[in-house]
Amino acid sequence: MQIQEDFSLRQLNTFGLDQCARFFSEVYSTEDLTEVLRWCDERAIPVWVLGGGSNVLLTSDLEGMVIKIGIKGREVVEETEDHVLVRVGAGENWHEFVMFAVAKGWGGVENLSLIPGTVGAAPIQNIGAYGVEVKDVFHSLEAIDKKTTSLVFFDSKGCAFGYRDSYFKGQGKNRYVICYVTFKLSKSPVYNLTYGNVEDMLHELGYVEPSLTAVSETISFIRRQKLPDPSRIGNAGSFFKNPVVSLAQYQSLKDNHPTLQGFPTKDGMKIAAAWLIEHCGWKGKRWGTVGVHDRQPLVLVNYGQGRGQDIVNLSQAIAKAVMEKFGVPLEVEVNFW
Ligand code: EPU
Repeated sequence: MQIQEDFSLRQLNTFGLDQCARFFSEVYSTEDLTEVLRWCDERAIPVWVLGGGSNVLLTSDLEGMVIKIGIKGREVVEETEDHVLVRVGAGENWHEFVMFAVAKGWGGVENLSLIPGTVGAAPIQNIGAYGVEVKDVFHSLEAIDKKTTSLVFFDSKGCAFGYRDSYFKGQGKNRYVICYVTFKLSKSPVYNLTYGNVEDMLHELGYVEPSLTAVSETISFIRRQKLPDPSRIGNAGSFFKNPVVSLAQYQSLKDNHPTLQGFPTKDGMKIAAAWLIEHCGWKGKRWGTVGVHDRQPLVLVNYGQGRGQDIVNLSQAIAKAVMEKFGVPLEVEVNFW
């Protein structure tokens, strides 16, 4: 167990915010993790768990321990004629895992190419893109209960997945540290090209037929066109969730704004937060050292010198404008620390 003091987190969060952790430790196994958790427990030190740092907003220095999950490994634990179960360390980079699955010819995660972050963080917010969510390929996960340091298994039902949501953002919040995730991938992939312009783009890129590589490269191409690269401009992907409104509210919004699109869900109509933000005039707006991305207004960016609080203030101004103009509350997707 190695513990560092007054550790800068600048390189470890994709907003590039320069805040410090009083204590910091990277753990490479469940045993390492248990040891650090006990050390903190004995001293009553609060704990924050960091994956790829791609969905957190640091608003101040952290007076406690930040544990970075560095648990690695990819292991096939079951293989049949039509599927494989792969158990992956929570500290593996998500996109590298996707590339590994694509190279092996295993389908299921290719639409989730180029999503920043780690494997362990993926189930927490049930990451999703281009018509696929992690819950569609999820088999089970192993986590350490912070209170008891015992190992707990979760199946899909136990995770209570929802749109950018799970048990780990609700009742189980801050209680478990995910160590391994097992995915069920298909040896005879079924391609999902129905979202937006994915299929057209695949052909435009010169692919005659879909393949895992073709789909993965098409998704990566679309993402690179629309989303800023965090290694160049600090950001945490979508800052807000897409709001779900009642059918009646959707209809009245649509009557006034015919270009608004809705996607039916079991709870009502999901509408594009990007559209709402754009139609309040915020797309591409710069606010000192922070701003709203010019190609995807759902993404807030740090041009370099911004502070977490600047981004909080910007997000509140946007949410207020959307509420005043459309009467729709925006819910933040990113975690504030
Ligand atoms: N739109 C606008 N103006 C814009 C951009 C988009 O009005 O400048 C509207 C359009 O109506 C468009 C709709 O927004 O049809 C949807 O846009 P897009 O397909 O880019 O997706 P999104 O709803 O903005 C969600 C996820 C993304 C994911 C994409 C693709 C959320 C909060 N975000 O964004 O996830 O990559 O779909 O599937 O669900 C993330 O979570 O960090 C993330 C990037």
